[in-house]
Amino acid sequence: MGARMTAPILPPTDRNIDRAVELLRSGGLVAMPTETVYGLATNAADARAVARLYQAKGRPRFNPLIAHVADIAMACQQGNLSANARALAEQFWPGPLTLVVDANPTCTISDLARAGLDSVAIRVPAHPVAQALLGKFGAPLVAPSANPSGQISPTSAEHVAGDMSDRIDLILEGGTCAAGIESTIINARGEHPCLLRPGSLAVDQITAIWPGLIRPLLDPCAPQSPGQLLRHYAPSAKLRLNADAPNENEAYLAFGLRPACETPHLNLSLTGDLAEAASNLFAMLRALDQQHDAIAVAPIPMTGLGDAINDRLSRAANLD
Ligand code: TXA
Ligand code: MG
Repeated sequence: MGARMTAPILPPTDRNIDRAVELLRSGGLVAMPTETVYGLATNAADARAVARLYQAKGRPRFNPLIAHVADIAMACQQGNLSANARALAEQFWPGPLTLVVDANPTCTISDLARAGLDSVAIRVPAHPVAQALLGKFGAPLVAPSANPSGQISPTSAEHVAGDMSDRIDLILEGGTCAAGIESTIINARGEHPCLLRPGSLAVDQITAIWPGLIRPLLDPCAPQSPGQLLRHYAPSAKLRLNADAPNENEAYLAFGLRPACETPHLNLSLTGDLAEAASNLFAMLRALDQQHDAIAVAPIPMTGLGDAINDRLSRAANLD
């Protein structure tokens, strides 16, 4: 073969969805929009396709992936949802919640995608393009964020194209992701819900349905989610967090109303709205990273979605 092809960005017409389904059936890699971030989808049952996906992302290890399914029925074919897990699914699917449950004997998700575990991570995405693709494909798609491993997650088709277009087959256009931060991951195998990754569904919404949340993330000796690499979502600029003001030669990522300053800056949310801040986070980090070597980030409150935003920021800032 000659030079690598560049993946086209196509609007999500019926014809293009069909084309994406055909590519997926033959082991292809398709970037699809979800309400959280763009995912790089491939057939969960096809271990060779999954291997290609890890290769395209340059994942340092084979972290287990999230299986995206069309609906609760498809989820129940793959995994065993307890009554509490089912209550969460009924309340929040389609939406930005991932449930880790025991895999069923009938589970078709490849061992490679599950990293050999006897559990599976499952979610039903809400974005209409992801729904259309899953509906037509009719089987689970694994889809990590469509960026090279360790870099900033993509919230637009252009982000995906910039980083990945020479390594994948197709990008479906789906606008800007509404949530902008990945799904919240709950281990739903035990008596109590266990938070494996804070994300765009705030935990108080989860505990309203199933109380008694366990937070292993606060216990550094108990890493529960494989693949919780400390440095992740990383820009190449140096990040300084909880900065009330930028130093000289730092760009500033502000939150809430600030006194006017000369420093180049972007504002996650002028009104201090955490949902707006979450949806802007990756795109603004990316924009500042392209122009500056050092970025100071304003303090973000730990309430509600602030949990997930601070989690992503501390991973982005960790230089190990
Ligand atoms: O919002 C999202 O969840 C996005 C969009 C594209 O849907 N997807 C995403 O997938 O973030 P990914 O592959 O980057 O995240 C997978 C996470 C990892 O942190 C992994 O450790 C965890 O899910 N995970 C997967 N299977 C697991 C399992 N069986 N047990 C524990 N954690 C698991
Ligand atoms: Mg990611």
